[in-house]
Amino acid sequence: METKGYTDIHTHILPGIDDGSKDWEMTENMLRAAVMQGVETIIATPHNYPGRTPQDSDKIRRLCEETQKIGQKILPSLRVMAGNEILYRPEVTKELASGHALTLADSSYVLIEFLPHESFRVVSEGMNELLENGYYPVLAHVERVKEVFDSEENISRLLRMGCCLQSNCGSLMGNLFDRRSARLRKMITKRQIHFLGSDCHDTQSRPPVYDDCIRSLKKKISQDILDQLLYTNPKQLQSDDCIL
Ligand SMILES: [Fe+2]
Repeated sequence: METKGYTDIHTHILPGIDDGSKDWEMTENMLRAAVMQGVETIIATPHNYPGRTPQDSDKIRRLCEETQKIGQKILPSLRVMAGNEILYRPEVTKELASGHALTLADSSYVLIEFLPHESFRVVSEGMNELLENGYYPVLAHVERVKEVFDSEENISRLLRMGCCLQSNCGSLMGNLFDRRSARLRKMITKRQIHFLGSDCHDTQSRPPVYDDCIRSLKKKISQDILDQLLYTNPKQLQSDDCIL
C-alpha cells in the first residue's frame, strides 16, 4: 500500500491504557484507519494524569511494540513509538527524568496538556520550567487553551520563549464560517503551528483523521509550509533537532 508518510504525534491508540482504544480489536481498526489516512509513523501518547491513568512507561513501550507488529501487517514500514500526553503539574520535570513520564519518541520533545481554562501565567511558567530543564515543550491542542488561543500576544510570547504548538487535525476541518478553523489556518500560514495530530481515541467519534485534513488545507496553504509542518518538523523531532 502507498503511504504519504505522515507522522501523527498525538494518538490514544494503545489498548486499555487510557480513555482511547478499548482493546486490541479497536487498536487494529484504528491502525487501518490511520494507514488509510496516509500515516506511516505513529507516536502513542496515552494520557499521563497522576492518580487517574497508569504511568507505567514499561507497559507503554511493550504495547507500542505489539501495536507496531500488528500495524506492520497492514503497512510494513509502519512505526509506533512511545510517548505521553502529560497533564502539566509542577513535578513533571522530575517525572520525566525518572522515566515516570515519557517524552515523544525518546526525543527531548514533550507533549504537554493544560486544562482549557488554565491561566496564561501557569501555562507560560510551566512551559518555561520545561525549557529550563532542557526539554522542547509542545503545547497539545493549542486551540483548547483559551488564554493562549484567544490572544495573539500570548501566542507570540510562547513562540519567543521557544515553545512548539500542536493542533488537532479535526479542529482544522471546519467550513469557511468556522472561526476556530480559520484562525488555526492563519496560524499555520504564519508558521505558528509546528505539529499536527489526530488525537484519535477510537474509530467512530474521534477517529484517526489526517489526510482528510491535509486535503482541505491544500487549497489554502502553500506547499512549502505544508512540507515543513508534515515532514520537516516531525523528522527533526525524531532526530531530536531543535525546529525553532
Ligand atoms: Fe489527547
